[in-house]
Amino acid sequence: MRVLVTGGAKELGRAFSDALGAQGHQLVITGRDQKALATAEAELTAQGVDVETHVADLGDPGATPKLIESLGGIDVLVNNGALGGPIGPTWQVDENDWWHTFEVNLRGTAFAANAAIRTMTSGRIINVVSNAGVHRWPYVTAYSVSKAAVIKLGENLAVELKNRPIAVLSYDPGMVDIGLMGRGCDADTDDPDLWRIGRWARSQRADGRFTPVEQSAGLLARIVSGEFDHRSGGLITPKDA
Ligand SMILES: NC(=O)c1ccc[n+]([C@@H]2O[C@H](COP(=O)([O-])OP(=O)(O)OC[C@H]3O[C@@H](n4cnc5c(N)ncnc54)[C@H](OP(=O)(O)O)[C@@H]3O)[C@@H](O)[C@H]2O)c1
Repeated sequence: MRVLVTGGAKELGRAFSDALGAQGHQLVITGRDQKALATAEAELTAQGVDVETHVADLGDPGATPKLIESLGGIDVLVNNGALGGPIGPTWQVDENDWWHTFEVNLRGTAFAANAAIRTMTSGRIINVVSNAGVHRWPYVTAYSVSKAAVIKLGENLAVELKNRPIAVLSYDPGMVDIGLMGRGCDADTDDPDLWRIGRWARSQRADGRFTPVEQSAGLLARIVSGEFDHRSGGLITPKDA
């Protein structure tokens, strides 16, 4: 299958790309970081994966849709790229940063999904979300609320697509020791808000609440294969592994 992974060159997105490449999927990877994209392309190609990479900023509403329309068809869109957004009391963080997080996490995801749906005859859209969008994440509200909106978007799209062979699934990959949560655990800072998040992240890891990256990527690969299409509109979590 031809699978587009936004933000697929780094961190958890890269683990997803590695797992999908190992299963023989043809990959299209996007991100903003040209260097990371080139590294991912070289390493995956060396492993025999059919991969192409493109710079596409999810903050630019037209960039990813334009790319998807130019590709001449994908089977699966993995909306992985996202921002962690500003950290701190909601009324104190920079409001432009707060809103930009929605532009990337919600508008970027929605517009990529729209373009994929317009060009797909069948397949699936997988929106990578977070437990923070199901429950809450005080002091990280742009992230939490934007992910909640993405979950609700998926529920609605699935109903609109019920007569077409396109599934829409939300995937919470669990807390993993790379990317946003990995950096959270490593945070060594005087900033009290960031310090609070770091302390919480380390406590979650110490309590065994993290999901191994391979397990997280393995479940994503099963969703990409279509195993969970019967749950279109729903949320897949590490408990489904
Ligand atoms: N890490 C965790 O424990 C965890 C837990 C639950 C959910 N998640 C979800 O998993 C996904 C990946 O998270 P992560 O931890 O790997 O985060 P990360 O380390 O911050 O990586 C974010 C990824 O998104 C891309 N990205 C960010 N802004 C972008 C933009 N404007 N346009 C295009 N790409 C953009 C980045 O690539 P560029 O820098 O190249 O743009 C990077 O590949 C996210 O959707 C996140 O919500 C992660």
